[in-house]
Amino acid sequence: MSDLRTVAEPAPAKLNLALHVRHRRPDGYHELETLFAFVEHGDRVRVATAETDSFALTGPFAATLAGEGDNLVTRAAARFGAAFGGGPHAITLDKHLPVASGIGGGSADAAATLRALATLHDVAHDDPRLFAIADGLGSDVPACLLGRTALGRGRGEQLAPVEGLAGTPVLLVNPGVAVSTAAVFRGWDGVDRGPIGTGDLLAVARAGRNDLEPPARALAPAIDSVLAALAACPGALLARMSGSGATCFALFESAAARDAAAEGLSDTGWWCAATRLR
Ligand code: C5P
Repeated sequence: MSDLRTVAEPAPAKLNLALHVRHRRPDGYHELETLFAFVEHGDRVRVATAETDSFALTGPFAATLAGEGDNLVTRAAARFGAAFGGGPHAITLDKHLPVASGIGGGSADAAATLRALATLHDVAHDDPRLFAIADGLGSDVPACLLGRTALGRGRGEQLAPVEGLAGTPVLLVNPGVAVSTAAVFRGWDGVDRGPIGTGDLLAVARAGRNDLEPPARALAPAIDSVLAALAACPGALLARMSGSGATCFALFESAAARDAAAEGLSDTGWWCAATRLR
């Protein structure tokens, strides 16, 4: 009898409700304060114990990753194997999020891979060794491993969970332009505009900003059009770019307002996803 087992894990898209860049560090990274949140829409990762290692891509954005022999999912699996063992795995990534788009697709996929492998091999999801692997894979991977609303400091890896806004209707909009995270950070003007506040999460997010918007807009002017369109939608509580872009999001006061906004943008040719905060 076979003892092959399968675990499926959601890889929800990450949003930065606010992203304050405080200073450039000697190691080339930037010290951040950011409010991470997650939405229901995302990729899916399926991991099965197997006779040999394999990796397959499905879903609407599979083609944009195909051909890259190395990606964050296979890297996450290799590092999990080096730390915990566990033998070969067949991994399937069902890709629904646009790549290089500021909503942490690759980071979410890596985190979901780590969670699935941990489940398969009886490792606790909050095991510090798992977070150490996540940290080594990318600045957003620890937040995605935690998978809940949190204030992030450092490169984004020092996390403190916060409560609020679960269930809030969200529209994600991407104009179809991929921007390089490193290039956007390089374009930051070096001005520290201050910390993220405290208190009610929506008020804090609205009072905050994304300091990467100006350099991202300079590289991808289509972001201007997306932000203007979202801000003009009736019922929008907050319209902002996520991460280093180019995906922007709006939080809405109701699902009806969000759906009306999505309908209004349907002839733009932009990628849109109507979802909710987790
Ligand atoms: O950590 P990750 O590999 O996702 O970062 C990609 C690039 O984004 C880094 O090489 C760096 O140029 C930039 N970055 C940064 N400061 C951060 C996070 C990322 O400068 N806090």
